[in-house]
Amino acid sequence: MIYWGGKLLALWEAAEPHRLNPYTLETIGLDNLDGLLKKGDAFAAHPKVDPDCQGEMRLVNFGIKAGLSSTISLFEFNPKGEVVHQHRHTVPGFAFLHDCAITPNYCIFVQNPVSFNPLPFVMGFKGAAECIRFNAHKPTKIVVIPRNGQGEVRFFDTDPCFVFHHANAYEEDGKLVLDSICYDNFPSIDEGTDYSEIDFDHVPASQLWRFRIDLSSGSVAKDVLIERYCEFPTLHPHDVGRNYRYLYLGVAHGKTGSAPLQGLLKKDMKTGAEQFWSAAPRGFSGEPLFVARPQMKGHGYGQKQEEDDGWILLWLYNAASSGRTELAIFDAQNINSGPIAKLNLRHHIPYGLHGSFTSTYFGPDVASA
Ligand SMILES: [Fe+2]
Repeated sequence: MIYWGGKLLALWEAAEPHRLNPYTLETIGLDNLDGLLKKGDAFAAHPKVDPDCQGEMRLVNFGIKAGLSSTISLFEFNPKGEVVHQHRHTVPGFAFLHDCAITPNYCIFVQNPVSFNPLPFVMGFKGAAECIRFNAHKPTKIVVIPRNGQGEVRFFDTDPCFVFHHANAYEEDGKLVLDSICYDNFPSIDEGTDYSEIDFDHVPASQLWRFRIDLSSGSVAKDVLIERYCEFPTLHPHDVGRNYRYLYLGVAHGKTGSAPLQGLLKKDMKTGAEQFWSAAPRGFSGEPLFVARPQMKGHGYGQKQEEDDGWILLWLYNAASSGRTELAIFDAQNINSGPIAKLNLRHHIPYGLHGSFTSTYFGPDVASA
């Protein structure tokens, strides 16, 4: 979900976004972004917001048309929702690109070493993700595209791994630093499997890896920053694309192996220090979201804000009490002590993927005003 240029949009990878009424959450219908997208054009579900692009925020997103070779379309929008950059690039091979990372000058993708067998998908026997095969003998390719559309697309080989999500990226001393959640195989679950009966010992586990891409030599160095199973990284929005300090992730309760997400981890990328909180054994978590404390006049207004000055929002499914979901709110500076507030819903929320937060208020009093 994004709220940008006055539109609330639900994004998916296959085609145009759906627009929703932000007051009622009613679906209005497919939205072609003022004619930018043709019928069926892809517009990915992982846009990034550059906090300062020539003095204003920019929404950066992409669309993939995958095949024997794949086409990546890149779009940039100003705060009014008007497109300010649009360019298209062809990359060799089948590209399964779920997410991107940005820096002030580059858009970065990780092209997983996978092949796609389209026949069962076209015949309607399987979903697209079930037709993907991971090739552990081929390198993973890091694809770097200049955001201004000038200059060549560059490819950098690294060890085989599978990536859905990136934490962040930045430029430093002629290198690109890219932090991504990496699996040693494609983390699929066999079709028809009952999720409550999954043997997690046979599900690939993820780690947070840091890639340092040397733009002169073309070499890629790799470090493991978090060994614990992790997903859904989030950070202060002002630090997207910049050298940053604090990262927050959904994590498993145990230190090793694959498992459902039950915890929240804060990682200090400068010192390596970690804060951890877990809802185990009967609480199950989803994607955390960092929300920065608004800079109000009087409370340190005008001073540089601490990077962890804000809150983490986290959906928790409470299996112990009544099968209801809670919205847990953490002080981002003190994750260890657990939530500082919980909003208890009257029902559960189906286990999902991503959400977003906007400080724009859509209460009924505004709708009727
Ligand atoms: Fe995602």
